[in-house]
Amino acid sequence: MNIGGTLIAGPARGGLTGELTIPGDKSMSHRAVMLASLASGVTEVRGFLPGDDCLATARMFVDMGVDIEWLDEEKISLRIHGVGLHGLRQPEHVLDAGNSGTCVRLMSGVLAGQSFPSTMTGDASLCKRPMQRVADPVRRMGASVEGRDGGNLLPLTISGGKLKGIHHVSEVASAQVKSCVLLAGLYADSETCVTEPRQSRDHTERMLPLFGQPVNVKDGLTACLEPTGSLYAPEDIVNIPADPSSATFFAVAASLVDGSRVNLSRIGINPRRDGWRRILNAMGADIQPVHASSVGMEPVADLQLLSCNLYGCKVSAADVPDAIDEFPVLFVAAALAEGEFVLQGAEELRVKESDRIAAMADALRSVGADIEEYPDGVRIRGIQRLKGDVDVDAHGDHRIAMAMAVAAQKADGEIRIHNASAIATSFPDFVPLARQIGMNVRWLDA
Ligand code: S3P
Repeated sequence: MNIGGTLIAGPARGGLTGELTIPGDKSMSHRAVMLASLASGVTEVRGFLPGDDCLATARMFVDMGVDIEWLDEEKISLRIHGVGLHGLRQPEHVLDAGNSGTCVRLMSGVLAGQSFPSTMTGDASLCKRPMQRVADPVRRMGASVEGRDGGNLLPLTISGGKLKGIHHVSEVASAQVKSCVLLAGLYADSETCVTEPRQSRDHTERMLPLFGQPVNVKDGLTACLEPTGSLYAPEDIVNIPADPSSATFFAVAASLVDGSRVNLSRIGINPRRDGWRRILNAMGADIQPVHASSVGMEPVADLQLLSCNLYGCKVSAADVPDAIDEFPVLFVAAALAEGEFVLQGAEELRVKESDRIAAMADALRSVGADIEEYPDGVRIRGIQRLKGDVDVDAHGDHRIAMAMAVAAQKADGEIRIHNASAIATSFPDFVPLARQIGMNVRWLDA
């Protein structure tokens, strides 16, 4: 687990201003490495997120014989020499997914298609997260999955080979489950379909066709893949847009701090990731998308953010999947908004990198916020300022750490955010970029 690392964040000394380029999307970076590694030919990827999570995925493929050339020191551009769907070789040691649920769950689908057994593990947080949701469908396809708690907990040993196509009806709206099954479907003898209760992010469905594998999305809720038997490296460079989940921290900070004016360039505005903007808009935020265009198969826009008065609102189960990763910082917005904010139907937040409902309720309560916790959500009554000179625990969860750094911009003194080093999993440059627009945040001992 990412234990250790203390962030010191305090009240903003003035309006936040400036223009930021946010690093690449985490979900798409994982998928780009996976598909390029499994394709025949060489794929160039630009805008890759060099966070620990995506680097863990890249390392797994290197461990299975894929040659990955880094084209710059920052690890933003890379050339992947794909080995084809059947070209991976058995790793010589246990594959390590670190803190990354996306890595381990999507790779479960890839490993289910391999004739050799391999074992994946992760850090203490990942070893507690549920894997039954991916073990069940790949077993039905014919793979073998063994692990603690009947294959629900890491380490998992997976082997498979020739799989059969299934129609998987998922109980949760989860892009990780859907993508796992579709990736395993590349190795199946017939069509594989996944139906979810609500549509989750659709980057896998959008990216597979770039590699020559069509995906048929039927009624919005069912994605089907008829395996073509191979993936091919696209002729064009695979460009990855900036991560909207990272952008949200600055959107909330700019909304809350008086006199702010911040521009973020080329942020992904895929509707399945854009729930945070719909929620903040409903709360009264001033976020203007301009210069809308697209990067690969994904829509993007520059976002102009101005400070504003925020108001509470109601978020129901139907709105949850499109904003699933942004709730920690949306709770911060709610804690400082006028009136009441209610979130329901978000029980999935309890099985993320931490129990995000409990972790945010604890942290926000310590800084004086009025927050009630429910099994599937929260009720928050906004106040005007938060308390300073307080210690909070990010529980090794990157998004809790960054959300509390945003909260501190409206506190009466400094907040010490412990166990914050996990920021490196998704946003290694969070602190320098936050400081660039004037946020009051630094690493202890930096
Ligand atoms: C992700 C899907 C989401 C999200 C995670 C990334 C992905 O998880 O929370 O950070 O890249 O597919 P679930 O599929 O469990 O909702």
